[in-house]
Amino acid sequence: MAKQPKPSPKQIKAFQAQIWAFYEVSGRHNLPWRKTKNPYKILVSEVMLQQTQVSRVLEKYPEFLKAFPAVETLAKAPLSEVLKVWQGMGYNRRGLALKRMAEKVLTDHKGKVPHERGELESLPGVGPYTAGAVRAFAFDEPEIFIETNIRRIFIHHFFKDKEGIGDREIYPLVEATLDTKNPRAWYWALMDYGSRLPKVVRKNSNTQSKHYVKQSTFKGSLRELRGKIIRTLGDKPQTLVSLKRVCDNDERIKEALDALSKDSLIKYEKRKYQLA
Ligand code: ADE
Repeated sequence: MAKQPKPSPKQIKAFQAQIWAFYEVSGRHNLPWRKTKNPYKILVSEVMLQQTQVSRVLEKYPEFLKAFPAVETLAKAPLSEVLKVWQGMGYNRRGLALKRMAEKVLTDHKGKVPHERGELESLPGVGPYTAGAVRAFAFDEPEIFIETNIRRIFIHHFFKDKEGIGDREIYPLVEATLDTKNPRAWYWALMDYGSRLPKVVRKNSNTQSKHYVKQSTFKGSLRELRGKIIRTLGDKPQTLVSLKRVCDNDERIKEALDALSKDSLIKYEKRKYQLA
């Protein structure tokens, strides 16, 4: 594979200037998770923002933090409560993961979200992106990480019409252009620029990424069925027969239940399904 040539210092300066200029005028300066440095609150926002639109998270974030204002309250809450508040966010697995993270932070770190990358990544459900984001946004550390908006910018600016671009090719550019004096705000600026980019250039450069997966429609999906089961079990445990009735005899119900059990979201006890 031909290596991407390193951008020159002049190119780097121009790129940085462009991102900062955009941010000054059009940055989303009022997002509530940008007004805190509390690592727990940042962790919550990052998990919520994965795969859910900012507008939806803006509604849920205050509600979630009101219900679970600190690591300890989340760690000790029943899963059913957490999933109830999570409702409307989709991807219940992330709600469960957040609770498991809080439990581990409480037992292993006395309730304090760790600072070190390795310790962050050893929390359940925390991968390189989330660890990097928490370190940049909570601790202002010069981290290198990629998410969908950031990926889009680098592809658009540095790879023109190339296809099948891997993140491995993008990381060195993220590193070379990082404003190491101000990583927290730099990543805010990148995310804002990247989320606006498709509206300006009228295409999504992420389709050139080899990691690109088109979001499938929710309506009629297994994910929708899973959500319905979780909501139903949030009220009370159910037999298979009653669940089938609630779900209009959807023939994928066994498949959905197996997947939910495998993800440790539900369990089967005394002939009834219930939240884990
Ligand atoms: N600000 C901090 N993290 C963010 C994210 N993941 N998406 C949008 N804005 C953010």
